[in-house]
Amino acid sequence: MKYSIITLFPKTIQAYIEESIIKKALERNLIAVEIIDLRDYTTLAHNQVDDYQFGGGKGMVLMVEPIVRAIEAVKTKNSWVVLTTPQGQTWQQTLAKQFAKQYEHLIIICGHYEGFDERVLEYVDQEVSIGDYVLTGGEIAALVIVDSITRSIPHVIKEESFAQDSFENNLLDYPVYTKPVEFRGSKVPDVLLSGHHANIQKFKDEQQVINTWKKRPDLIDEKQLNQYQKEILNK
Ligand code: ADE
Repeated sequence: MKYSIITLFPKTIQAYIEESIIKKALERNLIAVEIIDLRDYTTLAHNQVDDYQFGGGKGMVLMVEPIVRAIEAVKTKNSWVVLTTPQGQTWQQTLAKQFAKQYEHLIIICGHYEGFDERVLEYVDQEVSIGDYVLTGGEIAALVIVDSITRSIPHVIKEESFAQDSFENNLLDYPVYTKPVEFRGSKVPDVLLSGHHANIQKFKDEQQVINTWKKRPDLIDEKQLNQYQKEILNK
C-alpha cells in the first residue's frame, strides 16, 4: 500500500511514521508513504492556500486549486482519494480491513481552518471522519487511517495478533496480563498460569463475550449469539 498524504503540516506526519510499527513496515517495504506539502502547489504569492469565504462567515477556507493540483501530481489510475472531514463516513475497523485489501494507492487530504471549498469534493472518492467531534486539522485523522490500515496489511504484525483483535466478530479483545503475577494484592487469573491450553482458550473466549457485554453492549446482537455465548451471559 502506498499512501500520499496532502497536508499543511508535513512534520506532524513525518514524526509519527518514523516510529514503531509503521517505521518497520516502511523499512520492510510493506508500505510507502509520500508526504505532500500543500503549499508547494499554490500558484499564489506567500504560499497562500486559503482565503475568506464568499458570502461572509468566520474562518478561512482552503482553496480548491492547490488541493486539486496536489492530487493531480500524485494520482494514478489505481488511486483512491480520501478527504478527512467530520462530515465523512465514520471510520471503522471493517473499513480499515477493506481498504487494506482493496486499494494499492491512497491519497489522503488533510483539512484545516473552516474547511474546504466545496468544489474539492468533485475530485474526491470518499469523505472519512474518525468520529463525531471536530479536530483542528485532518493530520490526526489521516494518521488514524494510515495506522489502522497498515496493521491490517499481511506481515505487518503477527497474524495471531489480529485474529483476536477488538471488533473482530463484533467482540472486544479479552484481557491480557504480564509480570508480576501479583501486584498489590491483584492477581493474574490462575487459569492463565495453568499451562492448560484448552482451558486458557475457553477463558479467553468467555472473557471476550463478557468484556464486550460490560463495555460495549451495543456491539452485541443477541440474535447472533451462539448457544455457548448465551450461556456465558445467562441469556
Ligand atoms: N477534521 C476535523 N475533524 C475531523 C474528524 N472528526 N474526522 C476527520 N477529519 C476531521
